[in-house]
Amino acid sequence: MAVRQILKMGDPELYQSCEPVQEFNTSVLTGIIEDMFDTMAEHNGVGLAAPQIGIQKRIVIFGLESNPRYPDAETVPETILINPVITPVGDLQEEGWEGCLSIPGMRGLVSRYSKIKYSGLSPAGKNIAREVEGFHARVVQHECDHLDGILYPLRIRDMRNFGYEEALSQSDTDEPEI
Ligand code: NI
Repeated sequence: MAVRQILKMGDPELYQSCEPVQEFNTSVLTGIIEDMFDTMAEHNGVGLAAPQIGIQKRIVIFGLESNPRYPDAETVPETILINPVITPVGDLQEEGWEGCLSIPGMRGLVSRYSKIKYSGLSPAGKNIAREVEGFHARVVQHECDHLDGILYPLRIRDMRNFGYEEALSQSDTDEPEI
């Protein structure tokens, strides 16, 4: 187990499309996931994708229990999702502020599908399938974007809605980094 360095925006490794995981229930996979959780916890994040620690595999983790630092955030169950697939439910999108551990100290306003279905596999290769909305749906869309080399600023429609946390109003920046 180890806290790994998080790659920052500008690093070419963050702009690649990642490979699917082929082998499950392996010590290599367990080690990657442990490092991801250690790294995410060290930085108080609520989501992390494998390419953020330089591993080009389709693995994301996320989860948010009630946290005094983010009293208004909706809780999201702790999840390890491998080879994820997202399907929007309906056309409705909503804008929300996002931060990212690869872009520390900044926030941007991003439009995401309000409601999605997602599926994928656990580290043991078991199926996971959920239908979610709100912050949970936003976190999953943000993390899965990382697997295709997309960082949230690429989705900001008006770059005036992108800035340093300390310069934005408090209400815009009370979401955790994902
Ligand atoms: Ni991120």
